[in-house]
Amino acid sequence: MGSSETALALQLSSRQASDFELLANGGFAPLTGFLGSEDHKSVCENMRLASGEIWPIPITLATDLECSVGDVVTLTAPNGKHLGRITVEEIYEKDVELEAEKVYRTTDNEHPGVAAMRAEGARCIAGPIEADALPDHDEAFMRRYQTPAESKKAFEERGWKRIVAFQTRNPIHRAHEYLTKAALEICDGLYIHPLIGETKKGDIPAEVRMKCYEVLMEKYYHPDHVMLGVNPGKMHYAGPREAVLHAIIRRNYGCTHFIVGRDHAGVGDYYGTYDAQRIFDDIDTGELGITPLFFEHTFWCHECNGMGSSKTCPHPQESHLFLSGTKVREMLSNGEKPPPEFSREEVAQILIDAYKEEAENG
Ligand code: ADX
Ligand code: MG
Repeated sequence: MGSSETALALQLSSRQASDFELLANGGFAPLTGFLGSEDHKSVCENMRLASGEIWPIPITLATDLECSVGDVVTLTAPNGKHLGRITVEEIYEKDVELEAEKVYRTTDNEHPGVAAMRAEGARCIAGPIEADALPDHDEAFMRRYQTPAESKKAFEERGWKRIVAFQTRNPIHRAHEYLTKAALEICDGLYIHPLIGETKKGDIPAEVRMKCYEVLMEKYYHPDHVMLGVNPGKMHYAGPREAVLHAIIRRNYGCTHFIVGRDHAGVGDYYGTYDAQRIFDDIDTGELGITPLFFEHTFWCHECNGMGSSKTCPHPQESHLFLSGTKVREMLSNGEKPPPEFSREEVAQILIDAYKEEAENG
């Protein structure tokens, strides 16, 4: 306990604890605390902090907690674990609709990120945080957990100079595997960095996904060239703006390149297929500190008898294997494996088992 401990305490939600963790472990550098009103407005309108640095999504702490500027508020995790404290520098009402319009490009409450942001409310407290501890994660995550300092050290020990990061919130299917391996061909190392914070209803839980990643690490990825970590972040589903955030986080973890494929961090029809690539057109990668690698929509082609994209496969769409997310979910919940050209057999089995378990447990 620090000397400035007070009676004021705030139990963070799981989403807020994700933000705290990335602020505390360096994943959100250069941020050192929750943003104030000037930064909020500047990030929304200019995609930059008031200081001028690129920052795409406001990291704010919405709360009704009664407190005053100058107060030190103790922060705890959703499970009650003591995490640290925030020194309150400002209490303000953020412009939620501005954030929806500029960051999410929609004010539709059907958008899961917009809905979550609105539900948290407009009243925010801002200020620097101090961490005594990080939130807990289950063993399946902790065995792969690295702070940015730790991943950087691991890359250095392996002598990797060009390291490409892969953000994902899904099981790794063949299309994902193809992207990661194509990128690895021009890099020294691949850092598979799944997001394990809160995702929307309907997304495959992180515990299940970790089993999929582990089996691929064991059987299909080269141990000398691939590392698996975890990103404690939450999903915003903010498409283009979130692609920039995802890139910055991986820069902080020591990666030099970042994969951006089709509809990165998208949901529904809110963003164009390649909007999350176009947003980088106006960003200087030198300033950003990480280089995005863009990939077209990839698929299995029966004529090519391999993976490809509209860039590499000359065959008509009829030759391409296409399964909608809905179709895949339906197959898996019926205990039916999607074809091996879509998903590795071992991954399909893990997902079938998870659907079965979920059905049994209600
Ligand atoms: S998310 O962060 O973009 O929501 P997801 O797991 O769905 O995670 O995708 C991970 C990465 O793979 C993103 O960069 C996405 O654009 C890319 N991606 C997923 N599927 C394909 C595909 N079939 N073709 C090209 N890129 C893809
Ligand atoms: Mg996607």
